[in-house]
Amino acid sequence: MAGPTATDAPPRATIPETRSRGDGLPPGPRLPAAVQTARLVARPVQFLEDCRRRYGETFTARVLRAGTMVFVSDPDSLKRLFAADRQNTIAPGRNVVLAPILGQRSLLLLEGEEHLRRRKLMLPPFHGERMRAYEQVMTEAAEREIAAWPLDGTIRLHTSMQAITLEVILRAVFGVEDDRRRTELRRNLVGILATTRSPLAIGLTIESLRRLPTHRRVARMLAEADEALFAEIADRRADPDLASREDILSLLVAARFEDGTVMDDRELRDQLMTLLMAGHETTATALAWAFDLLFRAPDKLRRLRAEVDDGGHAYLDAVTEETLRVRPVVPFVGRQLRVAAELGGHRLPVGTVVMPAIYLAHTRPDVYPDPYAFRPERFLDGGPETYSWVPFGGGTRRCIGGTFAQFEMRVVLSTVLRRADLRPASDQPERIVRRNVTLSPRGGTPALLAARRR
Ligand code: HEM
Repeated sequence: MAGPTATDAPPRATIPETRSRGDGLPPGPRLPAAVQTARLVARPVQFLEDCRRRYGETFTARVLRAGTMVFVSDPDSLKRLFAADRQNTIAPGRNVVLAPILGQRSLLLLEGEEHLRRRKLMLPPFHGERMRAYEQVMTEAAEREIAAWPLDGTIRLHTSMQAITLEVILRAVFGVEDDRRRTELRRNLVGILATTRSPLAIGLTIESLRRLPTHRRVARMLAEADEALFAEIADRRADPDLASREDILSLLVAARFEDGTVMDDRELRDQLMTLLMAGHETTATALAWAFDLLFRAPDKLRRLRAEVDDGGHAYLDAVTEETLRVRPVVPFVGRQLRVAAELGGHRLPVGTVVMPAIYLAHTRPDVYPDPYAFRPERFLDGGPETYSWVPFGGGTRRCIGGTFAQFEMRVVLSTVLRRADLRPASDQPERIVRRNVTLSPRGGTPALLAARRR
């Protein structure tokens, strides 16, 4: 891509100037909170870009329910903020929609010691050297999906990538081998996932709305999915060969806290749901973006295909890193200060909600010249800088599935390139839209299968 396109160039500022704030917080729009919220929700990228242009890289926004929040994106502030993760907490309202599905003890929602204990237990299965164990499952899931692509119709790559990443979670993470149980689990999980993507999901969090037919249906799907997960956990506890199994559930069943205790069934179920919700849509979306970016850069696609045919992956990994930079799936994360902090040149008091703006950190021209251009070559000589490339967040809340996701992207992209000759079904790059907490390609990345490759 030669430079900013109609979709990725920063849009013109539409937010009026602020007076200096009486509360000592960084400047920001004076619009009513309802208007700022509507803009942040409807077009988060444009809102962030507009604010940066008008107020500088550190600015304050007011959002309904969440309150006042300070956005930061310079590497030094990100470093300091993430380093204080053990003192600070996550921003209020994290995954309020997902909480009824994830359960009380989800890693995503716990704080303090409780969070740290679980994190220590859950990290080892996601270590880099373990990833090879999942390569075959990932390759097979991609090959099965590619085999079902029609030669004479449009393929929605985003939907296709969702099918692949769900299958990978069912096999590599949950370790479900029984075909019938997997089919049933897939059916219920797809239903639950579809609900969480729709605005109706907010109803799940309100007790009185849970009696409505839609929510009763979700409750039934959840109960059925739970039943299958509990059965899977029981099988694993009874398995004399547990130690030789490689799926993540088996490793979690065998893992012990420092005091020698294990996770009980209910907790294991909550962590499985968390891994599904955190790892499925995010990875599928990143893959869909990779295809969209490559479709608009035929020279890079050719270079990548040549490398894949030769069995290499240096350029492929750079493509993955650059995709996650220029199209970060999660545009920002949040923390609430429990200790005062100096961030972006401002002294922020205890209680301030601070949002590391991943999208803005990734589009700083001082770190990334021509920041809106897709240029994997940036990452060929040495990987990205820790605090300028934060697609997985940071600190002790950093995504535990980052290595897994990047490895899956490597395997799925190379399998598709080896097996299929894909063409874009539209000559327009995808527009970025918000979908739940992710930035998604609006049209679902339509493609045509020109030929199968052997
Ligand atoms: C491209 C794919 C992915 C992206 C962009 C992504 C991004 C993120 C981000 C931004 C966070 C929050 C970090 C913070 O607050 O600082 C997070 C947390 C998390 N992610 Fe991911 N993620 C991806 C894939 C995965 C996968 C594959 C899994 C597991 C199978 C996973 C499991 C988790 C979990 C459990 C947390 C909570 C960590 C904690 O609170 O300690 N993610 N992810």
